[in-house]
Amino acid sequence: MTPTDYLAIGSIIIDDIVYPDGRASMGVLGGGGCHAAYGIALAGQRPGLVGLVGEDLPPDIRARLDADFDTTGLTSTHHPQIRGWQIFEWNGVRNEIFRVDVIEPFMVHPLADDPGIPFQAVRGLTLLREARFVESWRRRFPDAALLWEPTRAFMLKADREAFLNGIPHADIVSPNLHEAATMTGIDDALEIVRRLLEDGVKTAALRMGDRGSLVAKQGDSQAHLIPAVALDVVADQTGAGNTYCGGFLVGYVQTGDVVEAGCYGAAAASFALEHVGCARIPADLQTKWRQRLAQAQRGVRPVPL
Ligand SMILES: Nc1ncnc2c1ncn2[C@@H]1O[C@H](COP(=O)(O)OP(=O)(O)O)[C@@H](O)[C@H]1O
Ligand SMILES: [Mg+2]
Repeated sequence: MTPTDYLAIGSIIIDDIVYPDGRASMGVLGGGGCHAAYGIALAGQRPGLVGLVGEDLPPDIRARLDADFDTTGLTSTHHPQIRGWQIFEWNGVRNEIFRVDVIEPFMVHPLADDPGIPFQAVRGLTLLREARFVESWRRRFPDAALLWEPTRAFMLKADREAFLNGIPHADIVSPNLHEAATMTGIDDALEIVRRLLEDGVKTAALRMGDRGSLVAKQGDSQAHLIPAVALDVVADQTGAGNTYCGGFLVGYVQTGDVVEAGCYGAAAASFALEHVGCARIPADLQTKWRQRLAQAQRGVRPVPL
């Protein structure tokens, strides 16, 4: 067994997706942790998925998780498996309505000090958790590159103080534009990136849907716009941002370059957009991966900060 070098820590959710035109996809594998793990896998690494699942998780979904991910970090609960409506608007904004009564354990567990987490040292992790948990995961994996994707429900104006407390423990912070605008009250993407850097974010990767992403690190005089990879058809936007984060993390660890990492993120997200839910790794991944990474790299544009 090769050691597991990358972890995705976050939720595993059964998604019932409603598209803006009323079409729907029911019962698909989702959740931010799952999609981020998919992003790591698309970037060529076998991820460990750390999260909580209900004992009633359907066997076909469990088999899907076991196929591409190291699932020894999954813990299970007697609460019914979390499931939710994911309702999209034309501008990409998503509203999530959960369909079970008990939600919080799935957003929180396992905790960083849970003795059941089998991983010792890893090279990188994506963490989809609210701000109050970032420090404990940093302590659990002091030497790993830590990409923090703040939980959407905790990106309101009132959450700013807590958000600031999470920042010092992360190497990369990746909010999406809509959430960051809600929290900061700033609409302009470049202004938001400036604010994130002022707040102490070491590397910011602001995700902007079909506008791509803006990446910048502390001390740089310019940000970089990473374009979205052009696709014929966008089948489903659910989890594009999480998948981007998984790809970004691997690019960051492997190259040490945040612009290159952003291109890995864009390439990974493009595969997620083509499929409904968290899909299998395509058989022709390597060829397509090279093409899409090259396409993102060609489109990178510097933007003065
Ligand atoms: N509608 C879209 N068309 C093309 N690319 C997209 C689209 N939505 C997302 N992407 C790609 O996926 C990346 C991450 O998705 P984004 O929408 O920014 O995050 P989130 O899933 O949090 O809304 C984007 O930076 C872009 O590369
Ligand atoms: Mg989006």
